[in-house]
Amino acid sequence: MDQIVIHGGRRLVGEIPISGAKNAALPLMAASLLTADTLSLSNVPYLADITTMAHLLAQHGVVLHMNGNAENGSPENSGHGGVIDMRAETISSVVAPYDLVRKMRASVLVLGPLVARVGEAKVSLPGGCAIGTRPVDLHLQGLERLGAEIRLEEGYIHALAPRGLTGAKVVFPQVSVGATEDLLMAACLAKGETQLLNAAREPEIVDLGECLIKMGAEIEGLGTDRITIRGVAKLNGAAHAVVADRIETGTYAIAAAITGGTLELIGGRADHLAAVIKVLNEAGVTVEETPRGIKVQRSNGPVRGVDVMTEPYPGFPTDLQAQIMALMSTAEGAAMITESIFENRFMHVPELTRMGANLNVHGASAMVRGRPQLTGAEVMATDLRASVSLVLAGLAAEGETVLNRVYHLDRGYEHLEQKLAACGADIARRRAPV
Ligand code: UD1
Repeated sequence: MDQIVIHGGRRLVGEIPISGAKNAALPLMAASLLTADTLSLSNVPYLADITTMAHLLAQHGVVLHMNGNAENGSPENSGHGGVIDMRAETISSVVAPYDLVRKMRASVLVLGPLVARVGEAKVSLPGGCAIGTRPVDLHLQGLERLGAEIRLEEGYIHALAPRGLTGAKVVFPQVSVGATEDLLMAACLAKGETQLLNAAREPEIVDLGECLIKMGAEIEGLGTDRITIRGVAKLNGAAHAVVADRIETGTYAIAAAITGGTLELIGGRADHLAAVIKVLNEAGVTVEETPRGIKVQRSNGPVRGVDVMTEPYPGFPTDLQAQIMALMSTAEGAAMITESIFENRFMHVPELTRMGANLNVHGASAMVRGRPQLTGAEVMATDLRASVSLVLAGLAAEGETVLNRVYHLDRGYEHLEQKLAACGADIARRRAPV
C-alpha cells in the first residue's frame, strides 16, 4: 500500500491547473444511460471513482471509449482532462451489483436513468459509509412520486415502471445533491411535467442540467431550489465539458493560505466559491480573480480564526470542512466549525490532534484553538476530504508527516503530489514498508 511523505514548512508558490469536478463527472456519466446515442464528456478527471463508474456503466451495456481507447482500464490524462465517449445503444443489464456500488455511493445515480429509459433497475443498497448513515430514501420517495414501484429485496433496490414514469411534483423534505440529480435525470424521460421543490443548487447540478439540455431535455430553474422538467420521448447524444472542480480549487486555496504562499488556480471559478472566499478573506487571506482563474495569497502573518458552518450550496461546502479545520488549527485565535450536513464527519479530528492541533468536539461542532505550529506525525487517511486535510496540515507542519491509506485521496484528487510539488512542496509517494 502507498504512503505519502511530506516535509512541511515550505511556502507554496506557483500555478495549479484545476481538474474537472469528480462530483459533476459522475452524474454526467450516469446520464449516458438516458440515450442510445453517444455522449462525449471532456475535462474528465483521472480518478479511481471515474474508473468505478466506467466499470459500472460497462456492465449495464454502455460502450465506453476513453481518449480514443475502448475502456478496459483507466483514462490517460493529457493534462487537460480526459475525454470519455459513452454509447448505451442497448441496456444489457439493469443490475448494479453490490461489488461496485459498495466501492462508491454515487453508483446509486444509475437508478433514475435506468428506470426512466427501460422501466426497471436493480441497484444494490450502498450500505454503511464512513461519514454517517447516508440513506437513499429521498431518491426512492422521489421515484415513487414519478410512478415507480420500489421494492427492497435481498439488499437491492428493485425499481419498476413498466409503462414508464409520469411527471409529478416532488417536494424534497431535505436538500440532497444526489437525489436532485437522480430525479432530474429520470424526469427528462417521464411523461409530462415534473417539479423538483427544495432542490439542491450545487454547480454540479447546473452542469448536469446543461448537458441534459444539450441532449434535448426541457429544463427550467437550474441553480434554484425549484426545477421544472418537461419530459421528452427521447434524448440525443451531446458533447459536454465537465465544470471545474470547486472543491479541488478550495483545497488548493487553503494550501496557499496554510503555507503562507501564493497560488494561481488555473480554471478555478470564484463564482462557485463565494462562501469559501468570504471565510478566507475574514481570515486575512487575499483572493482575486485573474484572467485565467483565481489567485490566493497570504503574506501578512498568521490567519485569524473564523467560525464556519457547512450548509447546502451556496453555503460553505461540507467537502471543505476538514480542510478549513486544518487551516484554523494554525490560526491566531479560535474558530468554531459546525458540520450541518453529515453526522460523523469529524474523523480527521483525532489525526489532526496527533499533529498538535487543539480540537474539542461537542456534538456537531468542533472548537479549534489555533496553534502557531503543527508538528509532523504518522497519520491515517479515513475518507477523501479528511485525508487531504492531513496533507494540508503536513504542508504547514514542522518535520515529516507520513500519510497512510492514500487510496482515499486517489478517489478525488488528480495528480495531487505532482501539482503540489510543482509549487515547491516537499511531497512524495512511496510504497509503505512492510
Ligand atoms: C454529494 C457529494 C458529496 C457531498 C454531498 C453534500 C457527489 C458524488 N457527492 O453527496 O461529495 O459531500 O453531496 O454536498 O456528488 N440524505 C438522506 N436521504 C437521501 C439522500 C441524502 O437522508 O436519500 C441525507 C444525507 O445523509 C446527508 C444529506 O442528506 O445528511 C445530504 O446528502 P446528499 O446531498 O444527498 O449527498 P450526496 O449526494 O450523497
